[in-house]
Amino acid sequence: MMSHERYRLGIVLFLLCVGGAFSLGVAASGREGAVAPARDPLYLAECGSCHFAYPPALLPARSWERTMNGLERHFGENAEVADATGTALRGYLAANAADRAGEGKARKFLASIATDEIPERITTTRYFVHKHREIPRSMWEKNPKLGSLSRCEGCHARADQGSFDEHEVRIPGVGRWED
Ligand code: HEC
Ligand code: HEC
Repeated sequence: MMSHERYRLGIVLFLLCVGGAFSLGVAASGREGAVAPARDPLYLAECGSCHFAYPPALLPARSWERTMNGLERHFGENAEVADATGTALRGYLAANAADRAGEGKARKFLASIATDEIPERITTTRYFVHKHREIPRSMWEKNPKLGSLSRCEGCHARADQGSFDEHEVRIPGVGRWED
C-alpha cells in the first residue's frame, strides 16, 4: 500500500515537472502577440536606417523578393544596395519570411494574404487592416510622432522585440489603448 502511494506521488510530481517545463517553453518561444524580431545585423543596418526594421515574418517570401527587386524606386526613395549586400539580404528575408519560418502572429498575417497577392506593405494586409480599423485616423495621420501606420514602433513599445501585444499599445500623445 505504502509503496503504491509513493509510486503515484512520483507520477504526479513527474507530470508537474513536464507540465512546468512545457509552459515555460511556450512562454519563452510562442508568446501570443509575438513574431520573431529582425536580428540580422546587416538587415538592421540596411533596412532599419530609414524606418523600423520590419520583422521578415510579417510578409511572405514573394513580397520580400518584390521589394528587393524594386529598391531603386522604394516608396518614393532610392534604397538600392550593393549586389553582395542584396544577395545576403535576400537570403535572410527568404529564410525568415512568414511562409518559411512564421509562427505566432506571423501565421495570421500570412493567412490573410491570398496566394495570388504579393503585397509590398504589411499595412495593407487584411489582418493588419482588421486589427487597426478602430484607431481613428486623427490619432496617427497628423500625429508628429507617427504620420503613418507604418511606424509600428511608435505605438508598439516592444516592436523591436517582435512583440505587438494589443495590451501593450501606447499611442503617442494619446496614451494607453483600451478597447
Ligand atoms: C532611403 C530610405 C529607406 C531605406 C534604406 C529602406 N526603406 Fe523601406 N520604406 C521607406 C519609405 C519612405 C517607406 C514608406 C513609409 C510610409 O509609408 O510611411 C518604406 C516602407 C517600407 C515597407 C512597407 C511598410 C508598410 O507600410 O507596411 C517595407 C516592407 C519596407 N519599407 C522594407 C524595406 C526593406 C526590406 C529595406 C532594406 C532592403 C528598406 N525598406 C530600406 C524608405 C526606406
Ligand atoms: C497608431 C498606433 C499603431 C501603429 C503605428 C501600429 N499599431 Fe499595431 N495595434 C495598435 C492598436 C491600438 C492595436 C490593438 C487594436 C485592437 O483593439 O484590437 C494594434 C494591434 C496590432 C496587432 C494585433 C495584436 C494582438 O494582440 O492581437 C498586431 C500584430 C500589430 N498591431 C502589428 C503592427 C505592426 C506590424 C505595425 C507596423 C507595420 C503596427 N502594428 C503599427 C496600434 C498601432
